[in-house]
Amino acid sequence: MTTKRRTPSYTNHNGFLMPAGFPAENFISGLSYQAQSGDTFITTYPKCGTTWTQHIVWLLQNDGKPLPLGKTIGNKIPFLELVGKEVITALPSPRFIKTHLPFSMNPYHPEAKYIYVARNPFDCVVSFYHHTRGFVELYNFADGTFDDFFEGFITGKVDFGDYFDNLLSWYEHKNDSNVLFLTYEYLKENTREGIIKIAYFLGDKCLNTANNPENLNNIILQSSFENMSKNQSRWHSTKRPENMPPFIRKGQVGDWKNHFSSEQIKRLTEKFITRTKGTEISNLWKDIIPT
Ligand code: A3P
Repeated sequence: MTTKRRTPSYTNHNGFLMPAGFPAENFISGLSYQAQSGDTFITTYPKCGTTWTQHIVWLLQNDGKPLPLGKTIGNKIPFLELVGKEVITALPSPRFIKTHLPFSMNPYHPEAKYIYVARNPFDCVVSFYHHTRGFVELYNFADGTFDDFFEGFITGKVDFGDYFDNLLSWYEHKNDSNVLFLTYEYLKENTREGIIKIAYFLGDKCLNTANNPENLNNIILQSSFENMSKNQSRWHSTKRPENMPPFIRKGQVGDWKNHFSSEQIKRLTEKFITRTKGTEISNLWKDIIPT
């Protein structure tokens, strides 16, 4: 007997799934945005540390001052596929833009910069599951189980497409001079060094901020999990019900061990090995995932 699986509500744009609650016209318009010299894209697969990186970039750009209460990061560093190209075009320059697109779909300019943050797929699927069930109106998946979500993830049938398609597409460009390729796990382990790397990559203004020890300590403090857990409305304007985990949820490496069955470990490990064959990707997460 086959198990009937619950699936979140998605819209399908020529095979690319998006949250059903996102305006279709904004997604289509967003894809046609012409990247400009001076733009910086913060690009990730969902749940790989996007918001954390957005806040680090904000702090570097603003002398270490955190996003003020009452503001939402999405208004300062908007989400291209959600808001469409008009909103992005109207941003003051230099523009900072969030996307979840694979390289081939992401607006490109040789003088734009791209910060890509990857996270191991085991923790990513766990985080993505809690994200999806918690945005009840967006996905209609509040009763969905981890097992339900895992099936969508491992077959690539989740919003923003297949995890491996996204990762592989950016990994190929990890050494491009306008790409900074980082991992969530590296940022957790080496936060100070990671922030300095981002500052170097972004250039003068941010580097000046990071070179000031007081500012740098402040950025580390303000972007910490503990601080970002406070006043979560700064990170998402949509409220999550009390009985759901918050958006900034656990911030740990290895939480997947609390969710996976042994069968799921085997299946995702096999998929990881197959999809990353011929690359050095498994070196990114040695001792973190069972590959
Ligand atoms: P968990 O669900 O595992 O806790 P994104 O911003 O791409 O949606 O990623 C969300 C994940 O990043 C969540 O993971 C969230 O808790 C984690 N996160 C957010 N801010 C963080 C921070 N300052 N430090 C560590 N992890 C953070």
